[in-house]
Amino acid sequence: MGRNPSDLVGLTEAPARLARFSAVRQPRPRGIADAVRCARPLVEGAPFALLFPDDLLLAETPVTAQLISAYDCAPGSIVAVQEVAEADIPQYGIVAPAPGAGGERLTPLAGIVEKPDAAAAPSHLGVVGRYILSETIFEHIERIKPGKNSELQLTDALASQLAAGESVSAYRYEGDRYDTGRPAGFILAGVAAALERPDLRDTVRQRLEELLARRPN
Ligand code: G1P
Repeated sequence: MGRNPSDLVGLTEAPARLARFSAVRQPRPRGIADAVRCARPLVEGAPFALLFPDDLLLAETPVTAQLISAYDCAPGSIVAVQEVAEADIPQYGIVAPAPGAGGERLTPLAGIVEKPDAAAAPSHLGVVGRYILSETIFEHIERIKPGKNSELQLTDALASQLAAGESVSAYRYEGDRYDTGRPAGFILAGVAAALERPDLRDTVRQRLEELLARRPN
């Protein structure tokens, strides 16, 4: 690595100075809304951000910071969205922009549905793993019943907020997403992250070029 070991110690210690870290365990895989509910004692009483670590988002301004800025314009819950291919719609929460909403980055929603069939989808805008959740989300999680795949779906809790007249918006984030939950996404995420790093960029680029030259097709 060519790095002084004490630099590496500093690197591992730096995150501990950025925030106070706590962990809770979800005893059984009962869905994302259930996982959020497990964190209730830690975040209750104020809006909070939810990030899925298997969705890697590389952006000049971190996507969570983009959502926090959007919150100033649209207090309430906000989901990060991107256009998804028709064939991929059944893998995402899909949003329904409010009637008359234009093509702006920040769009008020009329509905949101978990993993619909493509034919029934209200749009091609799929939710990716970054959310701002307003503090009422816990009341709505208590109200919903198990939904898609018999899990407590966060999407259903957001739909419940909308049904109660609360503000839920979508934000078309700026940046690139890598779904590390799939083999190709996992590999591309590592390559893309390495190409952003001055200490790795040249080596990785050179090795990739060699590999591609050996396998032109
Ligand atoms: C979850 C959410 C879904 C969202 C997706 C983004 O689904 O339930 O609404 O679009 O994350 O990655 P999962 O990928 O856990 O099946």
